[in-house]
Amino acid sequence: MSGILNGKKILVMGVANNRSIAWGCAQAMAAQGAEIIYTYQNERLKKFISKLVTDEDRLIECDVSSDTSIDSAFKLIAERFGKIDGLIHAIAYAKKEELGGSILNSTREGYGQALDVSAYSLLAVAKAAVKVLNNPASIVTLTYMGSSRALPNYNTMGIAKAALESGMRYLARDLGTDGIRVNAISAGAIKTLAVSGIKGHSELLKISQSETVDGVNVTKEEVGNTCAFLMSDLASGITGDVIYVDKGVHLR
Ligand SMILES: NC(=O)c1ccc[n+]([C@@H]2O[C@H](COP(=O)([O-])OP(=O)(O)OC[C@H]3O[C@@H](n4cnc5c(N)ncnc54)[C@H](O)[C@@H]3O)[C@@H](O)[C@H]2O)c1
Repeated sequence: MSGILNGKKILVMGVANNRSIAWGCAQAMAAQGAEIIYTYQNERLKKFISKLVTDEDRLIECDVSSDTSIDSAFKLIAERFGKIDGLIHAIAYAKKEELGGSILNSTREGYGQALDVSAYSLLAVAKAAVKVLNNPASIVTLTYMGSSRALPNYNTMGIAKAALESGMRYLARDLGTDGIRVNAISAGAIKTLAVSGIKGHSELLKISQSETVDGVNVTKEEVGNTCAFLMSDLASGITGDVIYVDKGVHLR
């Protein structure tokens, strides 16, 4: 079978279960011929991903809030797979208290944690990844339009996504000479584990659906297909950009 990712090895970080956007990305990239390697956050989450991926060698633990965990993960990746051609960062976390009501509910600790896991982690992972990435290579992260708009309840995560997008642009600038492109996909609302942490998420999903150009929510498969394109050499001219895959919700 010929695909736009034939011969490429790609690391996918952030599959929690079969609803995860990262899983949509992995499936779409595999369909285009890529060989996929996965990281999972901890032993508890390993149980879920093990149901989707049976080859144990392809499953590597990585908690992005720990530099030690990131270093061990990339050491294992290098040992098992040698060089890789790209990585998907589909990771975010904020405590429930940071995701509802007034932004004044935010605390120093909650804010720090959300920004650490959801934004700094892209830089932390890129630092470790440069040693194993080929030239050319591609990095894609997942963001949301709450980065540039004050949406209800999204709160601290919106601030984290603004930092994530900015970090993505600086990375694109600094990794360009290594042949590494860095982009973000701004996905429309999709029902996943992460979304269920946001206060009033059912309402958010409904509003989002009504604001698409055709009244149908975007799917993780559609996000995955864009991810496959950005990972491929067809996208060699695109770096430092935020690509909206939200069925036009951001037009409103
Ligand atoms: N679902 C949406 O509507 C939507 C829209 C736009 C952007 N996004 C973004 O897509 C990305 C993926 O989220 P999702 O919606 O697929 O939800 P998800 O819950 O399936 O995925 C979130 C992942 O983050 C991982 N994670 C959290 N803390 C971590 C840590 N310390 N170390 C390692 N991994 C950690 C979780 O294990 C999980 O796999 C996130 O960045 C999210 O903000 C989601």
